[in-house]
Amino acid sequence: MNPLQACIFDLDGVIVDTAHFHYLSWKAIADELHIPFTIADNEHLKGVSRADSLNFLLKLGDVTLSPEAFEDCMKRKNEQFLTFIAGMTPADALNGIPEFLEELKQSAVRIALGSASKNAVLILDRIGLTHYFEVLIDGNQIKNAKPAPDVFLKGAEGLEILPAYCLVFEDGIAGIEAAHNAGMKAVGIGDKNILNMADAVMPTFEQCTLATIQNIWQSMS
Ligand code: G6P
Ligand code: MG
Repeated sequence: MNPLQACIFDLDGVIVDTAHFHYLSWKAIADELHIPFTIADNEHLKGVSRADSLNFLLKLGDVTLSPEAFEDCMKRKNEQFLTFIAGMTPADALNGIPEFLEELKQSAVRIALGSASKNAVLILDRIGLTHYFEVLIDGNQIKNAKPAPDVFLKGAEGLEILPAYCLVFEDGIAGIEAAHNAGMKAVGIGDKNILNMADAVMPTFEQCTLATIQNIWQSMS
């Protein structure tokens, strides 16, 4: 078995719970366009880029927009989302995450971020965790959104570590597919019935130590 050399983290739903903020921001746009949009629908938007999320909504409601109206909806959704994240503090980091990042930082295992969000650095700054990440890849640096492997491949490249030595942490179906497409193993964070394609699943990072992850890594061989 290859030794574990790097952990690559998704942001939304793994380090911080912004999924509900995304939902509420999209819900306002969906209501305006008279598109029925539920929390269950929102599951499909986890890890999905801003433009792909709007396309999903439009398909759901069988609505067509001009390119200008499309841009305007994306802009207004993001303005709403930014008002939510402006209120975030270090207390919004998900349970167990600061401790796990600290333990990794003290070890030889390197740390990168692989997020589809264009707001990733802003969010990490708000919760005070930016300094843990040696390489930060977000939606501003990639052309092909998850499930394309780009965000994770770029993360591994930035660390100069081969994909086979990297482990991805993801809460989204599209993100787990992206990790696999990059030739990486993925730990799903959340419900094992939803994330059944992941190589392992943990409900949260609570009580998670490097030893826990090393055991999971060994069991994946
Ligand atoms: C994350 C979230 C998605 C979101 C995407 C883009 O991956 O899980 O729900 O659509 O980032 O976020 P952004 O902040 O760029 O709109
Ligand atoms: Mg996510």
